[in-house]
Amino acid sequence: MNKDKIIVALDVDTIKEEERLLDILSPHVKIFKVGMELFYSCGPKAIDVIKRYDREIFLDLKFHDIPNTVKNAARLVTRLGVFIFDVHAHGGSDMMKQALEGSEEEADRLGISRPRILGVSVLTSIGDHELQQIGINSSSQEQVLNLARLIKGSGLDGIVASPQEAGEIRKNMGEDFLIVTPGVRPEGMQKQDQKRTATPEEAMKIGADYIVIGRPVTRAKDPAKVIDDLG
Ligand code: C5P
Repeated sequence: MNKDKIIVALDVDTIKEEERLLDILSPHVKIFKVGMELFYSCGPKAIDVIKRYDREIFLDLKFHDIPNTVKNAARLVTRLGVFIFDVHAHGGSDMMKQALEGSEEEADRLGISRPRILGVSVLTSIGDHELQQIGINSSSQEQVLNLARLIKGSGLDGIVASPQEAGEIRKNMGEDFLIVTPGVRPEGMQKQDQKRTATPEEAMKIGADYIVIGRPVTRAKDPAKVIDDLG
């Protein structure tokens, strides 16, 4: 497996713990994901730490608000110099377009290239039953494809989706659309709260551009070995 395609989720809440994982993993992994847990506890400092290790950042804050607020948030995260950030596709097309506009304007102003922007489709922890509970009667597969079309039509670069939908997305949306899949579990590992999972190898074979993996690596006794064992 091409290890450059692995994104490790640093779901910890102190800089000390972040640095511990980066000491171990930065020789093996090129991109690290900062999510709500680390960003809300440590803020932009968590991003600077990863830059110090000369690694790329996926800032996974899943914006979902009115278009104007998301546009301004997109400006701010563009300023942080991240490689990827994401917004919730359920925020609608106008919100996604405004995220793109805010990011483009800020990148132009700073003379830098803009981050890749992804639309989060249906969370990998959600199954068809939960979808019905929130009033969506399509299957997760149908809903993800609907959102994929909306994301692409809004001009974003790609989608966050389950590996189980990656094949259909690739078939319908073409090669020029990034597919990032969390919810990957190496053979024999616990699913925890994830539902629509696949192994990292399966996810890549089906058409994912990047896979996101968190606890199976970060909570392992030997995190580097889990990455090495991915083949
Ligand atoms: O520990 P685990 O491998 O389940 O971590 C997956 C990571 O991907 C978490 O940081 C989670 O927030 C994120 N994520 C996800 N499903 C999405 C989008 C992001 O699990 N649809």
